[in-house]
Amino acid sequence: MRIDVLTLFPEMFSGYVGQSLLKRAIDAGIVDVRLHNIRDWAQGKHRQVDDRPFGGGPGMVLRPEPVVESVEAVRAQAGEAGHLVLLTPQGRKLDQRIVEELAEKPGLILLCGRYEGVDQRAIDILQPDEISIGDYILGGGEVAAMVLVDAVVRLVPGVLGDEESNRQDSFSGDPPLLEFAQYTRPREYRGRTVPEVLMSGNHPEIARWREEQKMQRTRERRSDLLGDDPAERRSDV
Ligand code: ADE
Repeated sequence: MRIDVLTLFPEMFSGYVGQSLLKRAIDAGIVDVRLHNIRDWAQGKHRQVDDRPFGGGPGMVLRPEPVVESVEAVRAQAGEAGHLVLLTPQGRKLDQRIVEELAEKPGLILLCGRYEGVDQRAIDILQPDEISIGDYILGGGEVAAMVLVDAVVRLVPGVLGDEESNRQDSFSGDPPLLEFAQYTRPREYRGRTVPEVLMSGNHPEIARWREEQKMQRTRERRSDLLGDDPAERRSDV
């Protein structure tokens, strides 16, 4: 999978791209990450990428020209393979279902917004898939793009080892359930012991216990995943 990232701060990605799972995937040739600085497409002596909003108000807005032209240039390199995503709090909210959908694409072009937003004409022209990572405001789309890459890359075939990829993750089922509690050595820590059933070697019994745990935890912590109305849940407390 080819991933192009368009940002005003490519250096924000360098630590992340050089680490762990993503680095392994890049070294193995499964994922190809390319960083592009939107400022390289800025015009004029001052290479200005942002400006004050028409109509007044605080902050700065990304101008349409460097945004549209940088995306067009990267699209031309990436071919039609690049699915364009704009990271913005106005987008559809990322969940595991959307992560699975994006992991199927041969390539992604991730456009990171900054300042108060992106000129609407750039969005109208480019028609990106607008995605938010949650109902809070970040300083820009860069951290959101890293979250998206992290979640997507681990689903690309060959990135996780067999053992890891055969695991059932939280949120992957229907309905999506939380994971059961995990324990490792030692058997006893500060007076707390591992549940007896996990030491029993009785695998059908262990599987049953884990299924019960998943349902119980989801009911206690995230009953919205089971179709409960979260507003109703709030009024209960
Ligand atoms: N940019 C700023 N806030 C964001 C969010 N919550 N999700 C995606 N991009 C963002």
